[in-house]
Amino acid sequence: MAGNNSKKAPVLTIDGPSGAGKGTLSQLMASRLQWHFLDSGALYRLTALSAHNHGIDLDAAEDVATLAEHLDIYFDVNRGRVLLEGDDVTQVLRTEETGASASRVAAHTEVRKALLERQRAFRTAPGLVADGRDMGTVVFPDADLKIFLTASANERAKRRLAQLQESGSDADFESILADVQSRDERDRNRAESPLLPADDAETIDSTHLTIEEVLDAIQEKARARGLL
Ligand code: DC
Repeated sequence: MAGNNSKKAPVLTIDGPSGAGKGTLSQLMASRLQWHFLDSGALYRLTALSAHNHGIDLDAAEDVATLAEHLDIYFDVNRGRVLLEGDDVTQVLRTEETGASASRVAAHTEVRKALLERQRAFRTAPGLVADGRDMGTVVFPDADLKIFLTASANERAKRRLAQLQESGSDADFESILADVQSRDERDRNRAESPLLPADDAETIDSTHLTIEEVLDAIQEKARARGLL
């Protein structure tokens, strides 16, 4: 049975607030391990974009969940592109606006349920690195290694600003910080799958660490568990 096989594939979960460096680190770990990669935030972002495209109110939980269940998406790993209903949405997916809309749809229980099996389907051999908020708590509670990556809100806003400036977008620090804080607040306080470390997660605070230092720390923990 395919389900059997997928159950056995090892999983490394990396959860935490936005801007803690999860995306970069998860991708680096996935390529180091030669494992698959799940960007679960992208699924919430794609759901929000799809709702927008179809003129569906982000607060209409049932309607958004139906969309989430039938999302027509394609992760073109080789070309680093994401397609939604055949359209290249790679750029718009990463905007602050899409992130804020994603946070709204992610608060609906119905939407989270609709995306659950889709996320679990990424767990195939030789293994999976899963990046998100509830990877270690809800989606893969039996993960082999759970990392909870944090950084101060100030530091995360700084990193986000640098990222935006690099991609040529207009942005100012104060509005990004306000955005980071309000998104944290919503992600932490929602009733369904709030942003919390799993009981058995290892917390890493990346505020004063470089990407390489965090990567080394995760690698050390992965090695200690025989994943490397
Ligand atoms: O990681 P990100 O910024 O792409 O996530 C976008 C939004 O989706 C964020 O506000 C939190 C939400 N999200 C979630 O609720 N659960 C996940 N597993 C991943 C993201």
